[in-house]
Amino acid sequence: MTRSTKCWAVVPAAGVGKRMNADRPKQYLELAGKTVIEHTLSRLLQADVFAAIAVAISPEDPYWPELELSTHKNIVTAAGGKERADSVLSALTAIRATASDEDWVLVHDAARPCITSADIHHLIDTLNRGDVGGILALPSHDTLKSVQEPRIIGTLDRKHIWRALTPQMFRYGLLKNALEVAAGNPSITDEASALELQGLQPNIVEGRPDNIKITRPEDLALAQFYLEQQYLEEQNQ
Ligand code: CTP
Ligand code: MG
Repeated sequence: MTRSTKCWAVVPAAGVGKRMNADRPKQYLELAGKTVIEHTLSRLLQADVFAAIAVAISPEDPYWPELELSTHKNIVTAAGGKERADSVLSALTAIRATASDEDWVLVHDAARPCITSADIHHLIDTLNRGDVGGILALPSHDTLKSVQEPRIIGTLDRKHIWRALTPQMFRYGLLKNALEVAAGNPSITDEASALELQGLQPNIVEGRPDNIKITRPEDLALAQFYLEQQYLEEQNQ
C-alpha cells in the first residue's frame, strides 16, 4: 500500500432482517450487552486502519440516532437503499469527496459482529499489493447437492466451493463503477459478484469460521458464544 492509499470501511445496515423475524431489524437486537451493530462498528474502529466508516442506514430507522456511535467523528451516515448493493453505493457516494479511486474500501455487513481485527489485517495485508482485491471466504465442509426439489440431480465438487464472507475489499473507483453498472441486477448479492460481472477475478482469503452473519434467531446465541470465546482467546495471549 503506498503511503497515500487510504482504507475506508462501508457498512450496509439498512436491511429489515426478515428471516430473523424479530420486532426490529436484527442489527439493533441486543447481543452481550450492546446492539449487534455497536459490536460490528466497535470491531472496525478497533482495527485502527480506516480513514472513516460509512454506514448505510434506512431513512425510516428510529434506532440509529439513539446510539452514541451515530455521532462518532469517524463514522459517516448515508441513506440506505432498496437492495444491499444500493445501500453500499450510497455509502460510497457519501465519502466521494475525500476518497480517491485507488483507495481501498472494505465492505462489511452490519450483521457480522464477530469480525476480528486479526481477520481485517490479514485481508488487507494479503491483498493490498494487488489491484483486483478480494474477499474473506471459507472452504465448504459439507457435501453440496444440486437439487430440483425434491430430487438430487448432482453433487458439486466441494474442492472448488467457498462461502463468501465479509469484509470484501476493493478499490474505491473499481467498486463504485461495478456497482453502478450492475444496478438492478438481482444476481449481484455481494460486491465480488459485481466485479465478476465485469470479467474480473477477485481473490479469496481464508477467514475465521466465527465470522458468522446473524440471519436467523438461533444465530444470536451462537454469536454470543463466539464473542465470549474471542474474549478468552485475547486474555490468554
Ligand atoms: N442491507 C442493507 N440494505 C438493504 C438490504 C440489506 O444495507 N437494502 C444490509 C443488512 O442490514 C445487513 C447486510 O446488508 O447488514 C446483509 O444482508 P442480510 O443479512 O440479507 O440482512 P437483511 O436483508 O436485513 O435480512 P433478510 O434478508 O433476512 O431480510
Ligand atoms: Mg437480505
